Amino acid sequence: MTERERPIGILDSGIGGFSVVRQVQRLLPGEELLYFGDGAHVPYGNHPAQKIVALARYMFRFMQQRRVKALLVACNTISCVAEQCMDLVSCPVFNAVQAGADAVAALGVERVGVISTVFTHNCRTYPREILARRPGEVRVYSCGCPHLARLVEHSLGDGGGMAQVEEELRRALDPMVERQGIQCCLLGCTHYPLVADRIRKLYPALELLDPAVEMAAQLRQALRRRDLLRPGEEIGGVSIYTTGDVKEYALRAQQVGLKRVRRVEAYPPLELD
Ligand code: DGL
Repeated sequence: MTERERPIGILDSGIGGFSVVRQVQRLLPGEELLYFGDGAHVPYGNHPAQKIVALARYMFRFMQQRRVKALLVACNTISCVAEQCMDLVSCPVFNAVQAGADAVAALGVERVGVISTVFTHNCRTYPREILARRPGEVRVYSCGCPHLARLVEHSLGDGGGMAQVEEELRRALDPMVERQGIQCCLLGCTHYPLVADRIRKLYPALELLDPAVEMAAQLRQALRRRDLLRPGEEIGGVSIYTTGDVKEYALRAQQVGLKRVRRVEAYPPLELD
């Protein structure tokens, strides 16, 4: 297999990264994608840093063994610790937080809200990265949502679960929209774009930013620069591996509209002490 034919790796704590797969399939339909979701340990957002790093390193190794030509760290929570995994891979790596901060900077707004997992919120990586790009020009309001990713992971298509999702969204976003007057909201967790329709229904005037859009654009640019894009006439698919429930992953992939799912297979989880 030539380097150009190798897959692009996409990793996430769970099914959230399907929102990134969707963007990559939209922009780069010819590419073959390799997805890893750590269903056995999701949600990551309430774990301590040491545990997230150990789990992330396990996934990075998986991707390096399969010789991906580029790696997307879809998960924002993992992106906050991605530096501690970079020794494991030899391909170009793109992470959600860098892409999200680039997207905010390009938008030129003055007040932005970021909703994310509690871990991402506590790391303060988003405020730091956004302010580094536009010092003194933007105010960043951040809110950690302890239950939202887990609810989305297991409740797509379930009315009761979605009512809880809306409750969580309101708890996070009402103060930012009503008191802080945010002009846009960055969806700082891959699970949230999967319920973007709910957010739009609750806040029709609020602009939503999904880091995956920018990440896919940066990926395409980098592959083009290295002459690693697969020829346009080819159509790629996605192979999904999970440490979680294979049937649930297959269902979620279908619910969120992934195209050309070649396989959904189980992979053994990292055993933690
Ligand atoms: N989807 C992940 C993110 O983008 C985290 C969800 C979780 O596992 O808590 O941050």
